[in-house]
This record gives sequence, C-alpha cells and structure tokens, in this order.
Amino acid sequence: MDSKKGSLVVVGSGIKTVGHLTQEALAWIKGADKVLYVVTDPVAEGVIQRLNPEKAESLAVFYEEGKLRRETYEKMVERMIECVHAGLRTCAVYYGHPGVFAYPTHTAIRRLRKQGYEAFMLPGISAEDCLFAELGVDPGSPGCQSYEATTFVTAGFVPNPKAVLILWQVGVFGHMDYSRTHYELREIPLFVEYLSRFYSPDHEVCVYESAIFPGCKPRADWVPIRDLTKVQLTPASTLYVPASERPTPDLELCKRLGMAVR
Ligand SMILES: C[S@@+](CC[C@H](N)C(=O)[O-])C[C@H]1O[C@@H](n2cnc3c(N)ncnc32)[C@H](O)[C@@H]1O
Repeated sequence: MDSKKGSLVVVGSGIKTVGHLTQEALAWIKGADKVLYVVTDPVAEGVIQRLNPEKAESLAVFYEEGKLRRETYEKMVERMIECVHAGLRTCAVYYGHPGVFAYPTHTAIRRLRKQGYEAFMLPGISAEDCLFAELGVDPGSPGCQSYEATTFVTAGFVPNPKAVLILWQVGVFGHMDYSRTHYELREIPLFVEYLSRFYSPDHEVCVYESAIFPGCKPRADWVPIRDLTKVQLTPASTLYVPASERPTPDLELCKRLGMAVR
C-alpha cells in the first residue's frame, strides 16, 4: 500500500468476536492509523479497543432513536471516506461478515475506488455461517435462498419450497428506523400471512440467534409459522425455514446429462 495516501480495508469481527476474528483482521486492526468499528456487544468493543487503543472510534455514535437507518449508514460512509481523505490507513471493523447486509462498507469501498484510493474487504464469519454450523444446515443440499425479511415481503419474492429459506432482520420487520431498546412488531401477522401463501401454517420454522460469547449456547426456538406472532423476535433473530417439499429430478434432463436416475 502507498504509505502517503489514505486507504481503506474493511474486516469482519465475526459473530463471536473472541474466536471468530481472523489473524489477518487482527493484523490490519493493529497496524491501522484509524480504526472505525460497528459491533453489537461490549466484549467485541473491548477487543478492538485493546488492539489499537489510541486510534479506535465507534461508528455506532451515528445511531439515533427513531432515525432512519439509511441516514445513519450515510454518516458512517462519510466518516470512513473522511479518514481516508485525511491520509490515514483506515480499518473499518463490522460485526459478522463485513459485506453481508452492510450497505456502508460496500458503498465506502465503491466510492473510494472511484476516487482512485485503495479500498478492499476481507471476509468474516456471518450469522448465516453460524446458522449452517449450529442448526446443521448444508446450503448445498437441497439449496438455499436468503433474503432480508421486510424486502422479501414488500418485493413479493416467491420462495422455492424445495430449498431452504433464510430470512434476515425478521426482528425489525416493517421498520426502517433504529431503536436502542426494542421494536414494536405490529406487522408480524402480515409476515405470517405472506409466508403462509407458500408454506402450511403448521410448517415448523426456527427463530435462531447465535451465541455471541464463548461457552454460551445459541437460541433455536422451533415453532409452526402460525405461532410466529407469539414468540419473541429481537434484532439479532434470523428465521430459518426448512424446505417443505423434496426436489424431484427432471428425468429428461438427467438423461441428457447421462446421469443414472434411481
Ligand atoms: C444488519 S444485519 C448484519 C449481518 C452481519 N453483517 C453478518 O454477517 O451476520 C443484522 C441481522 O443479522 C442477523 N444476525 C445478527 N446477529 C445474529 C446472531 N447473533 N444470530 C443470528 N442472526 C444474527 C439477524 O438477522 C440480524 O437482524
């Protein structure tokens, strides 16, 4: 990297920072002129602060009660870009995978590259990665579709019931704003109604929350779709919907591929 010119590297802290932070991410955090971070728990914050005490700054200050999340994200982008313009080798740390459901990181990288700065991202361990491990789900079998819960409904996405469905941000369904305390989930009946177009209301789904501290167990509450109105959903909840139908091979296409069909 050019030492005189600012740059941006975006890294992930994983979901369980103690354990998920990669050696590569650690080195970038330690060596940065400026560390900007968005994490969800005090342990993760402590780890980052200790790695580079003088230079770590939380971007969470931009969150404000009732403010549109999109506006907060723009402020985060501006702060990342400002640091790079100031000639700093900047490291942004976002929890989970820093490019999964993370508008500010992708946007800052895109804008900086357009301006001729070096900007790139390293992968991290996302909530979905934890789900695969902890719920025993293989996205390759039978297949996996992944959506943001509100967009899934408002954009009218049609799930394929032969593949697994993962719905992110189900605990902030219908909300574009930020709340430090809790979200009133008045619209969950609408979410249940929409899912019930494609699955039986009796189909069992799992409200999943991966543990963020070592030694703790994940939350995995199985309920029929109809009872999603009765369970607690939090901003950390991800909904796992198992496939409800078995994939059936297209015999003609299998034959053309020379595959034996049993
Ligand atoms: C803005 S996204 C950030 C995702 C994050 N970048 C990642 O890689 O997992 C927030 C959503 O991620 C999911 N999520 C975050 N923490 C989680 C956890 N501990 N367990 C399960 N899902 C989680 C939830 O769906 C939550 O609403």
